[in-house]
Amino acid sequence: MAATRTLRRVVTPVIPALVVLGFFVWFSNWIPQTRWEPPRARTISAQMTPADLARVGAVLVRERGCLTCHTLEPGAGVKGQGRGPNFVGIAARRATGVPGGPSDLVAYLTQSLYDPGAYLVEGYANIMPASHRPPAKLGYEETTAVVDYLMSLGGTPAVKVGDLSRPPTETARVPSAAPATAATTVTDATAILEKHNCLGCHALKAGEDRPGPPFVLASLRESAALRGVSLDAYLIESIIQPRVFVRGNFPLDLMPDDYGAQLTAGELHAIISYLSAPEHKQ
Ligand code: HEC
Ligand code: HEC
Repeated sequence: MAATRTLRRVVTPVIPALVVLGFFVWFSNWIPQTRWEPPRARTISAQMTPADLARVGAVLVRERGCLTCHTLEPGAGVKGQGRGPNFVGIAARRATGVPGGPSDLVAYLTQSLYDPGAYLVEGYANIMPASHRPPAKLGYEETTAVVDYLMSLGGTPAVKVGDLSRPPTETARVPSAAPATAATTVTDATAILEKHNCLGCHALKAGEDRPGPPFVLASLRESAALRGVSLDAYLIESIIQPRVFVRGNFPLDLMPDDYGAQLTAGELHAIISYLSAPEHKQ
């Protein structure tokens, strides 16, 4: 009973003022003014032109949570207000790759996605999860679309499906930052949650009195739908930028807002896999 009541409280329609605030703070430059509708299935075909792929990529970058860390700020240079580099102008500034790394744009962008730690943009920490892994889980065709989108920011999209190299396989190399999903056991995830004091404020099931909302999958899914992003992207945003979007009657300024710097990519990945897994029952 108590569980049902708490759940109902958590899923009570959002406070419009806070939603509006969140949009202004962060998504104002691109969130559609219309109501969010579930994404239509997008098939990416080998026939699609780079320009068409770039349009799909623009949507993927939003839906898969890239803009939780990256920003699109015209005129801000590499550094914007985000936890990751500003995407605006990336194709122009990386046209010849990076010193000591890939020497052309496509090779550099591909490396940035598959192996973000291989070249760290100056001034940033190694917190980006590889894009073919959770939470973004970009498939090969989707990666092509995202590369075309990035190429369109200060350049011209030019790759077609089949042009990019494939992501490294799990067995070929294991990046230090992101453990394979199989290695993420429930104990690991709960240990990480404890280590970072998450469980002081969040209960793992409804009905316990804590200052933050309980981690209830159905409710998290609803929040993600209201926010117009995938569950994984919503979780990333809630953890890294907790002030941006809040549902229900919870204090806005309570959750620490520096988890983006504290958590490693591996820890973030483990938490997100755990919170979004159906086995993490209520
Ligand atoms: C948790 C935060 C985070 C998320 C989520 C994230 N990134 Fe990053 N990304 C970073 C940081 C920090 C850097 C700079 C450090 C580095 O080079 O790894 C970076 C670097 C990059 C670069 C190189 C930028 C440059 O100026 O050279 C690209 C391209 C990129 N990310 C694309 C993406 C895409 C596409 C996604 C979504 C699939 C994504 N990122 C998701 C944090 C993130
Ligand atoms: C000091 C208390 C506190 C700590 C510590 C804390 N949180 Fe939170 N968290 C909150 C509050 C309050 C909210 C609701 C308001 C908001 O979204 O900022 C929240 C919101 C969330 C949400 C969105 C929930 C929903 O139903 O939409 C997630 C996900 C989340 N926190 C994850 C975490 C994780 C993971 C950690 C640890 C790495 C953590 N929190 C640590 C207080 C806390």
